Formats: sequence, C-alpha cells, structure tokens
Amino acid sequence: ITNALEVGCAAGAFTEKLVPYCQGLTVIDVVAQAIARARQRIKEPSRINWIVCDVQQFSTDELFDVIVVAEVLYYLGDIAEMRAAVKNLVRVLAPGGHLIFGSARDANCRRWGHAAGAEPVIAMLNETLIEVERLECRGESVNEDCLLVRFRNPISAS
Ligand SMILES: C[S@@+](CC[C@H](N)C(=O)[O-])C[C@H]1O[C@@H](n2cnc3c(N)ncnc32)[C@H](O)[C@@H]1O
Repeated sequence: ITNALEVGCAAGAFTEKLVPYCQGLTVIDVVAQAIARARQRIKEPSRINWIVCDVQQFSTDELFDVIVVAEVLYYLGDIAEMRAAVKNLVRVLAPGGHLIFGSARDANCRRWGHAAGAEPVIAMLNETLIEVERLECRGESVNEDCLLVRFRNPISAS
C-alpha cells in the first residue's frame, strides 16, 4: 500500500497490523487519548502521520489508495452526519483505490441507540463506489454480528 488512511484507531490494535503493509499511513481519531495510546503501541512512528480530528472535518490534499473505517461511523449523530463523513472519505480516495468499511449490523446499532449501522452506510458508499466483496461476520451472540465490505473507486488510475 503506497498511502493508507485509517479512521478511528482506538488503541491501535488494527493500526499495528496495517502498518507493515504501508509505505505511508495517516491515522485519525477524534479522541486525543486514542491517538496517544496507538502512538505508544506502534514502533515505526516515522511512517505514520497521526491526526486528532473528527472524520467529518478531516481535510487534506493527499489521496489514499486504501482507506479503512471500521466500527466508527455509527458514533456520528445522525444519518446526515454519516452521509457527510462518507462524502468526505470518498473525496480523498485515489482513483482505483479501495475503501474497507466495517460496522455492526443496522438492527444492532439502532437497538443500542445509534442512528444507523452497517447497511445504510453501505448503501451510501454504493452510490459512488463499486462493492467488490462483502463478508458477513457472525459472532457467538447477535450483538457481535457485523459486515465488512471492500469498495473500489471506479474512477480509473491513469
Ligand atoms: C470501536 S473503536 C474502533 C477501533 C478500530 N477501528 C477497530 O475496528 O478495531 C471506535 C473509534 O472511533 C473513534 N471515533 C468515534 N467517532 C469519531 C469521529 N467522528 N471521527 C474520528 N474518530 C471517531 C473513537 O474515538 C474510537 O477510537
């Protein structure tokens, strides 16, 4: 991966797995303590650009060939905010780049009091990106069920 973006790193468990595959990696999280904990965990700081910010406000001139956003977007306040965040992420996805989206199922998220879960966001992403593969993950309890979907930006890299 030439240049990746991870949204919502929490304590950096996935960041640690992702970083060996990346020449460059930008990691954002709205909670400063999450960034601090993830930074402590990762031993290759030079390749990582750490940013404390809300995914809705994230802005850069860079384009990313891989974006990972897992178990983050249901924390946003409503569907309009989710749509704005999706639009923001699609804007920074390179032509031909891949976006990996993960989320608990919609029914679970609504039961937990969130505005929406996986399915409505997947529908939004499908408005501009091409769905390449989908994994339906089933946990021991229904609360652990989630969807993982990989999308490709159909604008081709020239
Ligand atoms: C459940 S953790 C997900 C961790 C990791 N992505 C994973 O799948 O293991 C959610 C993370 O998203 C972050 N987050 C929540 N709302 C956010 C927002 N609006 N912008 C950026 N990060 C956000 C939280 O601070 C938290 O670290």
